[in-house]
Amino acid sequence: MSIFNRKSAVLITCPRGAAPILTDEIKRLNFPVKHELTAAVETFTTMAGCMRLNLHLRTAQRVQFQLASFKAYTADDVYKYIREYIDWDEIITPDGYLSISSFVQNDSIRDARYANVRVKDGICDFMRDKHGRRPDSGPEQTGTVLFLHWVQNRCKLYLDTSGEPLNRRGYRKLPWTAPMSEPLGAASLLASGWDTKSNVVNPMCGSGTLAIEAALLGLNSAPGLMRDNFGFMHLPDFSQERWDKLLDEAEAEELGGLNFRIIATDQSVEAIEAARKNAIAAGVERYIEFNVCDFRETEIPDGGGIVIMNPEYGERLGDVRYLGEVYKAIGDFFKQKCQGYEGFIFTGNLDLAKQVGLRTFKRITFFSAKIECKLLGYQLYSGSKKASKQSS
Ligand SMILES: C[S@@+](CC[C@H](N)C(=O)[O-])C[C@H]1O[C@@H](n2cnc3c(N)ncnc32)[C@H](O)[C@@H]1O
Repeated sequence: MSIFNRKSAVLITCPRGAAPILTDEIKRLNFPVKHELTAAVETFTTMAGCMRLNLHLRTAQRVQFQLASFKAYTADDVYKYIREYIDWDEIITPDGYLSISSFVQNDSIRDARYANVRVKDGICDFMRDKHGRRPDSGPEQTGTVLFLHWVQNRCKLYLDTSGEPLNRRGYRKLPWTAPMSEPLGAASLLASGWDTKSNVVNPMCGSGTLAIEAALLGLNSAPGLMRDNFGFMHLPDFSQERWDKLLDEAEAEELGGLNFRIIATDQSVEAIEAARKNAIAAGVERYIEFNVCDFRETEIPDGGGIVIMNPEYGERLGDVRYLGEVYKAIGDFFKQKCQGYEGFIFTGNLDLAKQVGLRTFKRITFFSAKIECKLLGYQLYSGSKKASKQSS
């Protein structure tokens, strides 16, 4: 049976903290959820299913199709299994390009790179025996990508059907400083509870990740539409026709426009230039109103929605004492200008967040690289029910 029709466990990785949101996304696409882990969700599907997941998932980083699960005490056991028990002809051609990475916790291995080499040796020896030629290999993830998970004597080998991670949507042409990853941007918007139909105001937008992800969500535009290379495309049986059909279906589900406003501002001219270029690359520039200004000057349109911002938090940028004043000013801005909205701050510094001085109604933990971050939500009532003072 072709790998495109055979079902297997599929491990989908995501930023730490985003797994519950990824679970929702997977269920909405009608795939079963077997396990939810700290930074991954396991489903069960075919390679054809993986193509759909790669195209539609917003909060995922990698969609990994399990090729084998086996016992190995040493790297030679891994080599032997790889060479003898997997039909590599259905996964890679002798002219292909291979990249292997791994997570290894096994007493016989001091350097995980040795495990990678033995996996590669097993595949290349299989290929040389059968075809007299072997695929090239190296670090780039632009061809066939494999991942070995080896803990004690239990190995799982995955084909990374994404290839390059899904956070490389293809629209980030200029990164600007401390950009949020695209899956984390999408996860923050989804976790905020934003209904995808009301205004999104994004002061301090930097390179525009939150505004661009909001436009893609509002338009119901699949994030994979922007990419032209995925790991599954390097399978010998890959059918461009099958992929084109999925693209056509995704395009047919896109909405023709937005009935709400997305406003993105930053005090830096260069940031807005980068954000605009990225929005052009994502095909959503016409849906975002960009403006260079201090966050306090950002227009807050009538009608409500969310104001979401990712201020610097002193880990990589800025000075913590100065930032205390900025966070206090964000609290004032929320209270005075954003009534009728829900306010959200994504930050890696809770001490700074206390300076906001408002009571949170939502606190969600995410990890950005290794930094523990919080998405903090504030209800900014209009009229008599004023934004309440923080009590704790
Ligand atoms: C951490 S970055 C935002 C990154 C963004 N989420 C992204 O994905 O690229 C913070 C941004 O706040 C902007 N900023 C700092 N102080 C500001 C102020 N007072 N008014 C407006 N923007 C400000 C900086 O120029 C920077 O682009």
